[in-house]
Amino acid sequence: MGRLEGKRTFVTGGASGLGEAIARRFVAEGAEVVIADVDEAAGKSLAVDLGPRATFVRLDVSSEAAWQAALDSCDTINVLVNNAGITTLGSIEEVTLDQFRHEFEVDVVGVFLGCKFGVAKMKARGGAIINMSSMTGVRAQANLVAYNAAKAAVTHMTKSVALHCASQGYGIRCNSIHPGAIHTPIIDKVLAQSEDPDALYASFVASHPLGRLGKPEEIAALAVYLATDEAEFATGAEFRIDGGSTI
Ligand SMILES: NC(=O)c1ccc[n+]([C@@H]2O[C@H](COP(=O)([O-])OP(=O)(O)OC[C@H]3O[C@@H](n4cnc5c(N)ncnc54)[C@H](O)[C@@H]3O)[C@@H](O)[C@H]2O)c1
Repeated sequence: MGRLEGKRTFVTGGASGLGEAIARRFVAEGAEVVIADVDEAAGKSLAVDLGPRATFVRLDVSSEAAWQAALDSCDTINVLVNNAGITTLGSIEEVTLDQFRHEFEVDVVGVFLGCKFGVAKMKARGGAIINMSSMTGVRAQANLVAYNAAKAAVTHMTKSVALHCASQGYGIRCNSIHPGAIHTPIIDKVLAQSEDPDALYASFVASHPLGRLGKPEEIAALAVYLATDEAEFATGAEFRIDGGSTI
């Protein structure tokens, strides 16, 4: 405990799932946390639950104006976690252009804007940006064409941001996390879109050599490491935490 004492952190999609687990663990490690989410009810309730070191701000990550307003309301930020995301299920024959564009608005434009505003906010003092990609940003699946493309874009954008910050001497590290299937509400939404949720769940388990889905707390533990100064030499890297599914 106390590994993030004095760090001011900003977690998008912090109201649910992985973002909630990260916000909880960051507060437990001594950080101040801004929970940024479109879900006001869940975000506000979590902030109250976490106590005085947590606050909530409404943010749609796909809106440039909303990012400007959200970050203007914060003094300093040491750590930005671009975690907000959605999952569109479907193959190239099924996904519509509108669905594809929406997936990109949230998962790619959202991370682009986060990195853009985050770099501007942190470049004077340095810091850490953590982008939530996915194992599916590394290994494609036939029924995830939009999500695969979005998470691969996040993977490579992370490296470009890392190289730029290194070349400018900003002291900002930028890394991506690639979880396997972790049982959060996003998985329940994907299962609900499926014709055979039980078979899909069984296929998730079978695709992880460790024989189970991951836990949100396991992703939060990796985010803590990347947020601390212990990770000072890590930048532009893909941190896979997926029960062996991309081996
Ligand atoms: N759960 C998994 O198996 C898994 C695996 C790999 C990667 N991921 C990624 O982890 C991240 C979090 O997923 P999760 O499983 O916790 O999902 P989740 O649905 O539980 O939480 C996502 C959060 O993002 C918020 N959100 C959605 N659109 C937003 C927007 N436009 N602006 C701001 N907030 C928005 C939601 O309100 C929600 O609170 C996502 O980027 C997801 O792609 C999840």
